[in-house]
Amino acid sequence: MDQADRLRNMMGSTGRRTRVIAVASGKGGVGKTNIALNLAICLVRLGQKVIVVDVDIGLANADILLGSQPKIHLGHVLAGEASVLDALAPAPGGVFLLPGSTGMPLVSDLDDEERHFLVSSFQELEEYADILIVDTGAGITRNVIHFATAADEVLVITTPEPTAVTDGYALIKTISREKGFGRIRLVVNQVSGRLEGGRVSERIRMVSRRFLDLEVEDLGHVLADERVKMAVRRKRPFVLEYPQCPASGCLRVLAERLLADGGAQPKSFGQRLAAMGLSSDKSVPGGGG
Ligand SMILES: Nc1ncnc2c1ncn2[C@@H]1O[C@H](COP(=O)(O)OP(=O)(O)O)[C@@H](O)[C@H]1O
Ligand SMILES: [Mg+2]
Repeated sequence: MDQADRLRNMMGSTGRRTRVIAVASGKGGVGKTNIALNLAICLVRLGQKVIVVDVDIGLANADILLGSQPKIHLGHVLAGEASVLDALAPAPGGVFLLPGSTGMPLVSDLDDEERHFLVSSFQELEEYADILIVDTGAGITRNVIHFATAADEVLVITTPEPTAVTDGYALIKTISREKGFGRIRLVVNQVSGRLEGGRVSERIRMVSRRFLDLEVEDLGHVLADERVKMAVRRKRPFVLEYPQCPASGCLRVLAERLLADGGAQPKSFGQRLAAMGLSSDKSVPGGGG
């Protein structure tokens, strides 16, 4: 049995288009990776097949948060040394992870050909997933913008800190200038309570409405919770390690909200490429599928 067959056995083929959700932020360290992984686990609990792809090319660390040490990662896929299915690994909570390229001296931005190749590779993953969560890097790099626009929806993560809010708004502004971007939804992390979350998200929504003529949606908040830090130190997702902690409750609510409104019809492969400014008839180096 090759890896593709094993995966088909383990995950089953969904036969549906996959909903692609990018997790992004302006400022780094606001909780993207924690939210991506724990949200993925909550979505699995709700019956979804979920793959997390770590495309934080420079500082990939989703695998570290899961306590796993992948032998094959995105770096190998990009180098043409492994297929995307070879790199896919089962992770705690029933999630599958495509690990990023930790510790590889890779340039932080990919070129068009590499991006085309990656999106084509992700297309192969779509057979196995209802939802693909893309954990992007921090900052407003070409990579982040491209993955955010190719996705069906972007979760912009911010904290109440003024710097995170300003950078989050700058990211939204940049995405909104791209052709073919999807829904933009806010998650305010590390809040002291529901009121603070609502205040921060309302401020960003108001500025987006006024200056960008853009309706940004409020997905919700995650409470600041010491258990999140403890789980990080133990290299375990907090929804598994501390299912009863306040942050875990918040993540379950976010997952339920994501499923309650099923999202729009996911983009086709061609639409994803077009959103990245790439054409689908370009030849794919390394043979994406
Ligand atoms: N809800 C939270 N409560 C407390 N600490 C948090 C919370 N979310 C994130 N953190 C802290 O922020 C750090 C960075 O989170 P991480 O998910 O790695 O951010 P990013 O992927 O955006 O760089 C975590 O290691 C943790 O210490
Ligand atoms: Mg991260």
